[in-house]
Amino acid sequence: MLRRLLLATTNRGKAEEIKRVFIGFDFELLLPEKKLEVEEDGKSFLENAYIKARAYYEFFQMPTLAEDSGLVVPSLGGYPGIYSSRFYSLEWGGVERVETSKDLANIKKLLRLMENLQDRRAYFFTSVVVCTGGAGLWAEGRCDGHIMHEPRGHGGFGYDPIFQPEGYSKSMAELEPEEKDSISHRGRALRKLMELFMVLK
Ligand code: IMP
Repeated sequence: MLRRLLLATTNRGKAEEIKRVFIGFDFELLLPEKKLEVEEDGKSFLENAYIKARAYYEFFQMPTLAEDSGLVVPSLGGYPGIYSSRFYSLEWGGVERVETSKDLANIKKLLRLMENLQDRRAYFFTSVVVCTGGAGLWAEGRCDGHIMHEPRGHGGFGYDPIFQPEGYSKSMAELEPEEKDSISHRGRALRKLMELFMVLK
């Protein structure tokens, strides 16, 4: 049976990665016809993913998958964390001007703040939520690594050019898409979700 799921995102990088992980499974993934202005005022990735999934479910009346993700740097007290997509605009650490793109402004700010930091450990984290009327499923995924001193590679999106996954000598942006999926926070969370779908089938 083909199941339809709405993807509550307008981030193309994310949508492409989610679609790739679903290849070969019995799901039709749909993108929303319009972007909803949802206030993501949760205190965690899971809360924000739930807020998005719930809002899109209620508006479109369709089973919805949402995810909230980000980069956590313990030596910066957990920042950018849940503020990853708009880190450049936060007062915390100083506002970074957007010259070419928001992703690049985020990267510039992070590298500036980490210039003299020895501890460069970091991890990507995601919470994925599937919501239908009054019921839902969730899964989480994490990918550990380090923040590099300068950007490398052109694949992926967001902070990928400065993130070196554990066990690799390349940045996340230098990996083949399928290689990223096999180790990424998003790939891991979505595969756990698939397992749940199978159990509950
Ligand atoms: P969200 O849309 O609020 O979940 O924002 C997620 C943000 O976290 C993105 O805009 C990126 O800055 C960052 N991020 C999440 N996942 C990844 C990834 O796989 N690679 C690079 N950056 C990511």
